[in-house]
Amino acid sequence: MPSDIPPVLITENDIGTRVAELSRRISEDYAGVDDLLLVGVLRGCFIFLADLSRLLTVTRSVDFLALSSYERGTTSTGAVRLVMDLRVDIAGRHVLIVDDIVDTGQTLRYLITTLNARSPASLKTCILLRKRARMEEDFHIDYLGFDIPDVWVVGYGLDVGGRVRTLPYIGTVKGGGE
Ligand code: IMP
Ligand code: MG
Repeated sequence: MPSDIPPVLITENDIGTRVAELSRRISEDYAGVDDLLLVGVLRGCFIFLADLSRLLTVTRSVDFLALSSYERGTTSTGAVRLVMDLRVDIAGRHVLIVDDIVDTGQTLRYLITTLNARSPASLKTCILLRKRARMEEDFHIDYLGFDIPDVWVVGYGLDVGGRVRTLPYIGTVKGGGE
């Protein structure tokens, strides 16, 4: 039904342009690094990471972990859980976390603390979207796609209750934050 189609917040074209810019910057910054490890945070990262990683010109590998912070619908429980860990050991490696969105910042903070404890050579963050108004933790994001308002967004990997992840653009849904 047409009324179910999420209104566009960021077009497919604008996403593509920004992802290409990010990948160019990352490629420049890691030009001297042998093997950059991209750590994707499942499941929201999967489309962003697929597009970004294929545009990079540096040697890279990919691994994944899965976290859970939204146990019920779209309300944060505040507790972040590691539900699937990486396969590889990151000690001494250059690691770039790739995630879809930072809302309160709790998830990313947990991730940075957890991965830093494993002694990577470096640890940086690449995040597609940031809800600036919502951030509790004011930390630096190394590579950021877009700042967005405090609305629930879907598409390009992001879901609402497990749905509409494969929408090609970023759209908004009403009542997503409940
Ligand atoms: P945080 O810990 O509050 O920063 O939550 C971050 C996580 O919540 C993201 O990685 C997403 O999985 C999820 N999330 C937050 N806002 C949205 C949204 O608008 N759409 C879809 N997922 C979201
Ligand atoms: Mg996520």
